[in-house]
Amino acid sequence: MKSTFNRRNLYLHLYLLSNLLTLPPPSSAEAPPPLSLNCGSKDAGNDADNRKWESDNKYLVAADKSVSSTALTHEPSLTSDVPYMTARIFNGETSYKFNVNSTSRYIIRLHFYPSNYPNYNVSDSYSVVSTGAITLLKNFSAFITAEALSQAYLIKEYSLAAFNSDSITLTFKPAGKSFAFVNGIELITEPELFDDQAVLVGVAEDAGTIDGVSSNMQNMFRLNVGGQFIPPMNDSGGLMRSWYDDTPYMFGAGTITHVGNVTIEYNDLPAATAPVDVYRTARTQGPDPNVNKQSNVTWVFQVDANFTYLVRFHFCECQLEKANQRVFEILLNNQTAFATADVIAWTGGKGIPTRKDYVVYTGDKAGDEELWVTMHTNIDLNPEFYDILLNGLEIFKLSDSKSNLAGPNPVPSKLMQKQLIANRAPKNGSFADVFVGGAVGGAATIGVAALVLFVIRKRRRVPVPDSGGTSWLPVYGASSTSKSTISGRSHGGSSLSTDAVCNCRYFSLLEIKRATDGFDESNVIGVGGFGKVYRGVVDGDTKVAIKRSNPSSEQGVNEFVTEIEMLSKLRHRHLVSLIGFCEEGNEMVLVYDYMGKGTLREHLYKGNKITLSWKQRLDILIGASKGLHYLHTGAKYTIIHRDVKTTNILCDDNWVAKVSDFGLSKTGPNMNQNHVSTVVKGSFGYLDPEYFRRQQLTEKSDVYSFGVVLFEVLCARLALNPSLPKEQVSLADYALQSGRKGTLEEMVDPHLKGQITPEALKKFTDCAIRCLSDHGMERPSMGDVLWTLEYVRRMETNGDERTGNHTKSESSGSGMVEVPINRNDMIAMHLNTLNLDIDDEDDANGIFSQIVDPKGR
Ligand SMILES: *[C@@H]1O[C@H](CO)[C@@H](O)[C@H](O)[C@H]1NC(C)=O
Ligand SMILES: *[C@@H]1O[C@H](CO)[C@@H](O)[C@H](O)[C@H]1NC(C)=O
Ligand SMILES: *[C@@H]1O[C@H](CO)[C@@H](O)[C@H](O)[C@H]1NC(C)=O
Ligand SMILES: *[C@@H]1O[C@H](CO)[C@@H](O)[C@H](O)[C@H]1NC(C)=O
Ligand SMILES: *[C@@H]1O[C@H](CO)[C@@H](O)[C@H](O)[C@H]1NC(C)=O
Ligand SMILES: *[C@@H]1O[C@H](CO)[C@@H](O)[C@H](O)[C@H]1NC(C)=O
Ligand SMILES: *[C@@H]1O[C@H](CO)[C@@H](O)[C@H](O)[C@H]1NC(C)=O
Ligand SMILES: *[C@@H]1O[C@H](CO)[C@@H](O)[C@H](O)[C@H]1NC(C)=O
Repeated sequence: MKSTFNRRNLYLHLYLLSNLLTLPPPSSAEAPPPLSLNCGSKDAGNDADNRKWESDNKYLVAADKSVSSTALTHEPSLTSDVPYMTARIFNGETSYKFNVNSTSRYIIRLHFYPSNYPNYNVSDSYSVVSTGAITLLKNFSAFITAEALSQAYLIKEYSLAAFNSDSITLTFKPAGKSFAFVNGIELITEPELFDDQAVLVGVAEDAGTIDGVSSNMQNMFRLNVGGQFIPPMNDSGGLMRSWYDDTPYMFGAGTITHVGNVTIEYNDLPAATAPVDVYRTARTQGPDPNVNKQSNVTWVFQVDANFTYLVRFHFCECQLEKANQRVFEILLNNQTAFATADVIAWTGGKGIPTRKDYVVYTGDKAGDEELWVTMHTNIDLNPEFYDILLNGLEIFKLSDSKSNLAGPNPVPSKLMQKQLIANRAPKNGSFADVFVGGAVGGAATIGVAALVLFVIRKRRRVPVPDSGGTSWLPVYGASSTSKSTISGRSHGGSSLSTDAVCNCRYFSLLEIKRATDGFDESNVIGVGGFGKVYRGVVDGDTKVAIKRSNPSSEQGVNEFVTEIEMLSKLRHRHLVSLIGFCEEGNEMVLVYDYMGKGTLREHLYKGNKITLSWKQRLDILIGASKGLHYLHTGAKYTIIHRDVKTTNILCDDNWVAKVSDFGLSKTGPNMNQNHVSTVVKGSFGYLDPEYFRRQQLTEKSDVYSFGVVLFEVLCARLALNPSLPKEQVSLADYALQSGRKGTLEEMVDPHLKGQITPEALKKFTDCAIRCLSDHGMERPSMGDVLWTLEYVRRMETNGDERTGNHTKSESSGSGMVEVPINRNDMIAMHLNTLNLDIDDEDDANGIFSQIVDPKGR
């Protein structure tokens, strides 16, 4: 490799030069072991990971302008006392001196815990930190930064090029009349992980490369894309880096996590580049090439404007084996960095990692504080799969022409400020609405969004004593006690099947919040058993319905997982489709097609703006029955909805009816039975009496409920109306009585007068009454109901033809999509309703699965 060769030459040259010029004493030529300093402490101490931190005393050049101090407050969220509870406070310029290998790159990590210290008010502290000519921090307020980021402590990480000297000086200086402080310092030798020719994006070809080897940088973000938090102790090369989950940064098309079961072979790549866990997990787009073709996968990062950033992409193909199977374009800030990325072509095989660096300048205007990383499949090269791949991502800020790496202190976003104020006061604000925005800086910012949410939940469960204003601040940290929560979301916890994960899109919480204006109440379009449903917009203009789980519901997780499992396998024109989901912190969100026209019930009763015509009503009923028919028969096994009612039949903008609310379906053990023994559930007024009596569920229970729906639509009255005379309270009972008496006509919605021919009415009501038969055996199948409704619809249309009125007709049964499903999967729908829960213990025991025999079709 050319670059390595050049670098070696350079080293050699520098080394010889430095030997000739300075002739260092033999002792200092030895590379020192990694240093971890517990600043302000006389003694060494171990952190929560049992890592040893030594006293900083012997490295101070002159100690007279500094004091040791111990923090006055102990944040409950502080995961380790070492190094945070003690601090070195600087009243004047003070330096540390460290011996180093003059030809090595070093990582310097600074730890700050902005607590108050005796006689020092931390909000007054502004620091300047430099090493040699390089400015690391300038006018830095740890207090403001931590507030803005909602963190208890901060870590700033720098990677500095070889110093060409045997020692380095790290200088702290108060800005103005204030004081400076630091809690911990790490100094770690880093193997050279950078190229001397990183490609500059957005400049003419061949013109721009940046010499990474001689660059000084600050790490801003380090992500294990598609994976979990990797704590410092699990990093490779002993570099003690933390790798964070990328979901808080995802924007645009969400993607899925893929865990590769492949041995990782580093070959030429230094193992210190990234640990194997980074390469084992990835994001890809999903199985639908048409969707992939038209969408981008984007991550958005808050950075400081007017800086150049080196963006490092980590790749490792663990699924495919050949070149030109997966080819994609990489963009930085909407400019092409590389158009034909093909990981196998780069590495030569499966399980071999590689990394690519691209450099981009952000611009110096307001609004340039965002860094966009975008990927999309390259269709032009006609790869076998339309997909992208990313395993890891690191973003480094390069020092500017004045050798400066410092950015401004962040400004908390408006929403954040509001939250800060609200939550300072009585502690009952809703943290769930905290939206992390504003400028951020430093490696320590990673994972904030997820953490805010985590801490919220934690706090609800474990009330902490009020320790003065900031105790609610969440922490992100490097200790073992926090690692499981830091990743924000864990796929392991919810045990989604790969199938489900592959069939649905993943949304980040950030995206969901953008879509709903931070779950603004004005966007609420409904409230269900699961929680509130919001209107939202994703991908610029796609309207969606966003169902957010009620965080207090313990049942939530099961419902959430099963609904995803269920819906990700079912695709039908007349079933509401699940677009994707979000699981982050403790938020569980499902994203569906937006049904512009709302529920069927909304359009039936008085006071509605629209009165549906008879034919419109028939079309909606036909659509809904197709959806149910598909559930009962189309998916190879029988699925019972269990909660068929007019609020669970929705209409899209074109009045296409879709069955919704699949609620809590679950696979279960009862095979080869014709029914399921179960505790009765359902909505009063729609409940199958046989099911009620015998507690045995078949798909005919849905038929009964649909019979009630048929009458509800015909009569435009509630299934249960307690304000009516006793014999009329239940629509089903009343309809059966009227049927026997031959007075059904009197029940018909007056708005429909003159629209229904007597033959059609007869056909319709006969069918509806059969649906309401006491015994399931006597009820028609959903297919029969569908057939009858279509027949009725034709009778009415034929009547129209004379007047030239036309209606679109769809071919029966079309819209079905074959979804591969394990033949033995026994699945049934569970109701998801507030109306009736006769036996909650049933649910608590998780026995609510509803299984029906596939009937050997
Ligand atoms: C300094 O580090 C380089 C690699 O970065 C290594 O080859 C060399 O042996 C080290 N020098 C000493 C004196 O340890
Ligand atoms: C620290 O200073 C800020 C403003 O300078 C003030 O609001 C705050 O009360 C002070 N805190 C303490 C503990 O004195
Ligand atoms: C870190 O490594 C240890 C030991 O190899 C392992 O038990 C642990 O699960 C790892 N933690 C994470 C978060 O990967
Ligand atoms: C990984 O693959 C090996 C062989 O290819 C197999 O034996 C093992 O069960 C797999 N592990 C998982 C978790 O799939
Ligand atoms: C990239 O383009 C999108 C629209 O396509 C725009 O919203 C975004 O601000 C752009 N990002 C940058 C950093 O220019
Ligand atoms: C994908 O990103 C590119 C560049 O930012 C943009 O031009 C294009 O419109 C995006 N496409 C979609 C579907 O978002
Ligand atoms: C951008 O940074 C350069 C130093 O690299 C500085 O000279 C210039 O003034 C900065 N521009 C703005 C708008 O801050
Ligand atoms: C220092 O930071 C504070 C807080 O962000 C800011 O108000 C002030 O203007 C800064 N001072 C300088 C000299 O940049």
